[in-house]
Amino acid sequence: MATTHAASDIADAALADLGVRRVEWADQSMPVLATIRERFARERPLDGLRIGACLHVTTETANLVRTLHAGGAEVALCASNPLSTQDDAAAALVHAYGAATYAINGEDAEVYYDHIESVLNTRPQLTTDDGADLVSTLHTSRTDVIDGVLGGTEETTTGVIRLRAMAAQGVLKYPIVAVNEAQTKHMFDNRYGTGQSTLDGLVRATNVLLAGRTVVVSGYGWCGRGLASRAAGMGAHVIVTEVDPVRALEALMDGYRVMPMHDAAPLGHVFVTVTGDKHVLDAPHFEAMQDGAILANSGHFDVEINIEALDAQAAGVQQARPHVDEYRMPDGRRLYLLAQGRLINLAAAEGHPASVMDMSFANQALALEHLAAHAHSLAPDVYDVSADTDQRVASLKLEAMGVAIDTLTDQQAAYLAGWQEGT
Ligand code: ADE
Repeated sequence: MATTHAASDIADAALADLGVRRVEWADQSMPVLATIRERFARERPLDGLRIGACLHVTTETANLVRTLHAGGAEVALCASNPLSTQDDAAAALVHAYGAATYAINGEDAEVYYDHIESVLNTRPQLTTDDGADLVSTLHTSRTDVIDGVLGGTEETTTGVIRLRAMAAQGVLKYPIVAVNEAQTKHMFDNRYGTGQSTLDGLVRATNVLLAGRTVVVSGYGWCGRGLASRAAGMGAHVIVTEVDPVRALEALMDGYRVMPMHDAAPLGHVFVTVTGDKHVLDAPHFEAMQDGAILANSGHFDVEINIEALDAQAAGVQQARPHVDEYRMPDGRRLYLLAQGRLINLAAAEGHPASVMDMSFANQALALEHLAAHAHSLAPDVYDVSADTDQRVASLKLEAMGVAIDTLTDQQAAYLAGWQEGT
């Protein structure tokens, strides 16, 4: 049963001790964020600022919140997905780290949006979002609090796409830093984080052997690239589906078979969508799939698999095991939908490992620090993380990993800056 704390709505306060131990475990793999936290504690760049956060409520996020607190901010947090909350991390956030937290694993859509409202009721001056649900609520039903917002950050590809659409339509009301666009975010979190955690979720939910199976990866952005390479590494035969000819060509030259979903549907044993778009797996595909096909999504929203169409086609549905729903088709075939089509890596596993979230959340902390100092001089738009921040995060990560690299000699720097010298 849910415990309602003064400024929180979480599942179970008694999980706080476990949460703290797991947050500390994650912290050991987040040295870049820890370095920033130490500096924030000295410099207090966020002093007195209220931050409203809509993020996956995980142990890694708890370490980001601790960092923002060290910088002097007050943080109110809600979940960015109804199934991704780690209830022990939520309890630790409330009872050990003092963050107002509104997140319960398995909450329905109504509670999910109530929790967003609760965060907005704290009248945040900075927002940090993963998927842009907080920002879109602010711009639609909660415009009453928008004037007090100085700026915000966005964590993920889907959110950045939504925000750019808002900016293009001239409706975005404050500046937002697209953390996802940092190289030290998408090249690592999206690629290695999604690659590993998606397989982790798939395997935890089903315990299937990937070796020898045909895995269809839909979408060959950074997430798809990571997922395809990890699935191939486990011995799967990987088919990639794409709509972008350049990405399709890249997938082909990376060694995968490339074809339309219509052709892949009868071949796949496991399907994973990572496109960011809707109905990538749809009624005609379900009709063509083999008995036993497994369907999962690792994109931000649960729109990539047309679940309504699957429901309409099926003769019956039953839970085969946790996170696995068996859809029995009229011809006797069984299709298995994982985690109700929500992102499998967070619903059935723990999301990206801390080591990769270290860089993503270092970028978040630095972007919020930047906004605290400069948001007033930025027009409402979507901004990239500076190249300098990317270099700093990468250097800190290498240093923490004990890896040294070369530096340019003066002669080499001059050569790169010049144009006269040829062959
Ligand atoms: N997104 C993906 N994995 C995550 C994690 N472990 N914590 C927070 N957000 C995430």
